[in-house]
Amino acid sequence: MKKVGVLGVGKYLPEKVLTNADLEKMVDTTDEWITSRTGIKERRLASSLEATSDLAINAAKEALDDAGMKPEDLDLIIIATITPDMQFPSTACFVQQGLGASKAVCFDISAACAGFVYAIACAQQFIARGAYKNALVVGAEKMSSITDWQDRGTCVLFGDGAGAAVLGEVKSGGILSTCLGSNGLKTDLLKLPGGGSRYPATHKTIDERLHYLQMEGNEVFKLAVNIMTEAAREALKSAGLDFIDVDMAIPHQANKRIISALAKKVGLSDEKVYLNIERYGNMSSASTATALCEAVKDGKIKKGDIVLLDAFGAGLVWGACIIKW
Ligand code: UT7
Repeated sequence: MKKVGVLGVGKYLPEKVLTNADLEKMVDTTDEWITSRTGIKERRLASSLEATSDLAINAAKEALDDAGMKPEDLDLIIIATITPDMQFPSTACFVQQGLGASKAVCFDISAACAGFVYAIACAQQFIARGAYKNALVVGAEKMSSITDWQDRGTCVLFGDGAGAAVLGEVKSGGILSTCLGSNGLKTDLLKLPGGGSRYPATHKTIDERLHYLQMEGNEVFKLAVNIMTEAAREALKSAGLDFIDVDMAIPHQANKRIISALAKKVGLSDEKVYLNIERYGNMSSASTATALCEAVKDGKIKKGDIVLLDAFGAGLVWGACIIKW
């Protein structure tokens, strides 16, 4: 089995900023409520001309540059998204087209906020076994396209963006372990019911606002800390490590209170936990992807560091990954 590591990272955030003050004019909310309950101050919104693949392509180009590779070098493209350009073809194929990555095998992964970790775990298998050499994995979301802008309980939480990583063989370090999990008994907690085969689009589904994300925030919140703790613990155990060995944790950015509770529970100090929720909100699969990119580019992750990626989301699904940088 080959060792697999991250050869390059990139990100893309749309230009338009939506602040909490802007939201105060749209729904019955306050900057104080959003900041104290979630830690979010602002988020980015893609333009009407930008689809998820456009965000992904921009992030991918930066990651390829960072890895010193060309699109033609890619054997595999996996896009983790719950906001695909279309039901089909896969967003990965649109990204292939946009990049000109002619020889890549392309598919999407639907694992919500844990999607980037799922995509890394999947690409690692292909590379480790020698099936493919270079893989592009992207967490990309246009959450604004599925946000109910009349629902103050959810519209203040989400934002648009993309983060990418190029994976390939490394001589030492790399991905030490991954831990994935799912609990299909909790499918009702977080979902977008309309537009699939269960409730195909009709005037009725539109009138009932079924094409927007629905979340029982409180219930998800209660499960989040334990799920993320256990996923991280299991991934660390498989790598022969413990929380004390972690140099930088990249948690999913759903709520600052969830991240703080997790950090406190496992004894991670503030400087070992990367946060970008204040600037971007919850970008589902793009949250861990952009946070990893920023932590690397900001010099917060250095050669030899132990990095923990830890995410959970709709499904419920969760995933943790340990990378020796
Ligand atoms: O990324 C995937 C996974 N998702 C998550 O992890 C999200 C997890 N959940 C959360 O982060 C939190 O549950 C939320 C931030 C979504 C909500 O925070 P909360 O502390 O759980 O609030 P709540 O839903 O229990 O609502 C408390 C109150 C309610 O009012 P009443 O019934 O107590 O009078 C809500 O109506 O806050 C009200 N509220 C708001 N008030 C002002 C809900 N949204 C807003 C708002 N502005 N935007």
